[in-house]
Amino acid sequence: MELTDVQNDLTEILITEEQIRSRIAELSRDIERDYAGKDVLLVGVLKGAVMVMADFARELKIPVTMDWMAVSSYGSGTQSSGVVRILKDLDTDLEGKTVLIVEDIIDSGLTLSWLLSNLRSRNPESIEIFTLLRKPEAARVEIDVKYVGFDIPNQFVVGYGLDYAERYRNLRGVGILAPAVYS
Ligand code: XMP
Ligand code: MG
Repeated sequence: MELTDVQNDLTEILITEEQIRSRIAELSRDIERDYAGKDVLLVGVLKGAVMVMADFARELKIPVTMDWMAVSSYGSGTQSSGVVRILKDLDTDLEGKTVLIVEDIIDSGLTLSWLLSNLRSRNPESIEIFTLLRKPEAARVEIDVKYVGFDIPNQFVVGYGLDYAERYRNLRGVGILAPAVYS
């Protein structure tokens, strides 16, 4: 699906497929340097991170393994509740592992902050965060995020894995959802 197919549901196309592709390539070069000689476990957060994981993992030229976690904090609305529930846990034991969390978006940071302390308690050797998008104005907790694709304005966005009520995940770019769609 092209962004143009749902143009009326979006107020703006914020990031194009090509911009995402080139930014992921750029960050991958940094990560290849930072993790040279390491076996990295990429931990994807379902479902939003599916697209970024698929493209990022294939762009990386170092050996990686992948595992997935599903957590819930939002329901179908657009506001973070701060209440996090594990819907699906990792299959991998993190003890001594080099972990890189792969996220679609950091909004308030509440979900990730909870996830970080949960994963840290499992004694990985190291744990860092890669996120495609971040909304600096929405931050409610401070999180040290090592790899950020794009800082974006504090508006609800969809596409490239991100949904509203499970729709729009298959858009190839990221767009701002028109408030009329959710109000
Ligand atoms: P917090 O606020 O806890 O949010 O950092 C984390 C999760 O909320 C979802 N989220 C969004 N999903 N468009 C979306 O489709 C958005 O603009 C947006 N902001 C937050 C997302 O699942 C993220 O992991
Ligand atoms: Mg979501």
